[in-house]
Amino acid sequence: MKKLLITGGAGYIASHTNIELLSESYDLVIVDNLCNSTTEAIKRVQDIARKEVRFYEADIRDGKALGEVFEKEPNIDGVIHFAALKAVGESVEKPLKYYENNISGSLVLYQTMKKYGVKNIVFSSSATVYGDPASVPVDESFPIKATNPYGHTKTMMEQILMDTAHAENWNVVILRYFNPVGAHPSGRIGEDPEYPFNLLPFVSQVAAGLREKVIVFGDDWPTIDGTGVRDYIHVVDLAKAHVKAIEKLSSDRGVFVYNIGTGRGYSVLEMIKAFSKVCGHEVPYEVGPRRDGDVASVYGDPTKANKELGWQAELGLEEMVESAWNWQSKNPKGYRS
Ligand code: NAD
Ligand code: WQD
Repeated sequence: MKKLLITGGAGYIASHTNIELLSESYDLVIVDNLCNSTTEAIKRVQDIARKEVRFYEADIRDGKALGEVFEKEPNIDGVIHFAALKAVGESVEKPLKYYENNISGSLVLYQTMKKYGVKNIVFSSSATVYGDPASVPVDESFPIKATNPYGHTKTMMEQILMDTAHAENWNVVILRYFNPVGAHPSGRIGEDPEYPFNLLPFVSQVAAGLREKVIVFGDDWPTIDGTGVRDYIHVVDLAKAHVKAIEKLSSDRGVFVYNIGTGRGYSVLEMIKAFSKVCGHEVPYEVGPRRDGDVASVYGDPTKANKELGWQAELGLEEMVESAWNWQSKNPKGYRS
C-alpha cells in the first residue's frame, strides 16, 4: 500500500500520523474541511517531514467534492478515517450536529470508497465505546455501551464499517484510542483546542498562566487518590499504531479491532504533579464537583495490538507531559503563534 487518503488529515492525531507515514514514504492525500484545524498544521507537517502532501479542502459529507478528489487522485490504496467532531459535552447539547457530521460523513465516505473500488480502511474509534466498563483493564471483547451521542456515533461508525466490510470484502482495522496526549518532539505540532475540555490541554494552559487553576472533577472516586484514572497515550505512539495498522492491511485480510493504550492508568493528581515537575512550578488546582457522565477508572489492555500489530507504547508519562509543555511554551496561541 503506497497511496493513502487521510480524512480529517489536518487535525491533531492525523498531523502526527502523517509525519510517521511520510517518514515511511507513503504518498498522502489529505481531505479536511478545517472545521477544527488549520492549514498551518499541514505546512508544518511538510516542513518536519521534508515531504509534500496534497491537500483538498472538502467536507466528507459532500459526495460531489469527495468524488472529485477520488477522480483527481486515482489508485488510492487505502483510507485512514479521522474526520469527526469529538467534543463529548457539545454532543450532548447538539446530538443532531454530531450524528449529521460523523454518521453522514462516514456514509458518504464509505459510498465513495465503494464507487472507486477502495477496500482498505483504518478507522479512528475510541475507548468511549466501552462507556463505564464493569472492570479494568478493558479488552476488545468488553461490551459496547457508549453513554453519550459522540460515543454513539463512534459505535455506529464502527458497525456500519463492519457490515460494509462483510458485504464488500473490505479490510478494516478499527483502533480504539484511549486518552491521546502530548505533542511532536519538534514542538511544532500539537493539540490546539478552541477550548480545552480535556485534562492535559487545560493543565498546560494553567501552567502557562493563561488560566487561573485546574478544577479537579471530584476527589471521592474509588481510585488510589480519589481522582479519575485514565490510560493516557502519547500521540506519537498512537501515530505509529496507524503505520502498523496500514502494514496489517497490506499483509492480512479481514476486520481487526485493537485497543491503543499503554495498559496503565494515571490519576488526575498524578498528571498535575508530573506536569508541575516539568514546567518547574506548582500547577494550581482546586477540587470541584464531579463532572456529569464521568467514570472512576478506565484503562485498556493493549495485548492484542502488541501481539497482532507488533505495536506497543514506548513513551511514558514524563515524555507525554514534557512534550505537551514544550508545545504549549513554544506555541502559546497554538497554530496562530
Ligand atoms: P481533531 O478535531 O483535531 O481532528 C479531526 C479533523 O477532522 C479536524 O481537522 C476537522 O477539521 C476534520 N473534520 C471534522 N468533520 C469533518 C468533515 N465533515 N469533513 C472533513 N473534515 C472534517 O481531532 P483528533 O483529536 O485529531 O481526533 C481524530 C479522530 O480520533 C476523531 O475521529 C476522534 O473522534 C478520534 N478520537 C480522538 C480522541 C481524542 O481524545 N483526541 C480519542 C479517541 C478517538
Ligand atoms: C480525564 C480525567 C476528568 C478535565 C474524553 C472523551 C473520550 C476521548 C478522550 C474521544 C477525567 C478529569 C478533566 C478537567 C478534570 N475522546 N478532568 N478536570 O473524559 O477520559 O475522555 O477524551 O474519543 O471519548 O470522553 O478525558 O481529558 O476530559 O478527562 O479533573 O478540567 O481528567 O474527570 O477523570 P475523558 P478528559
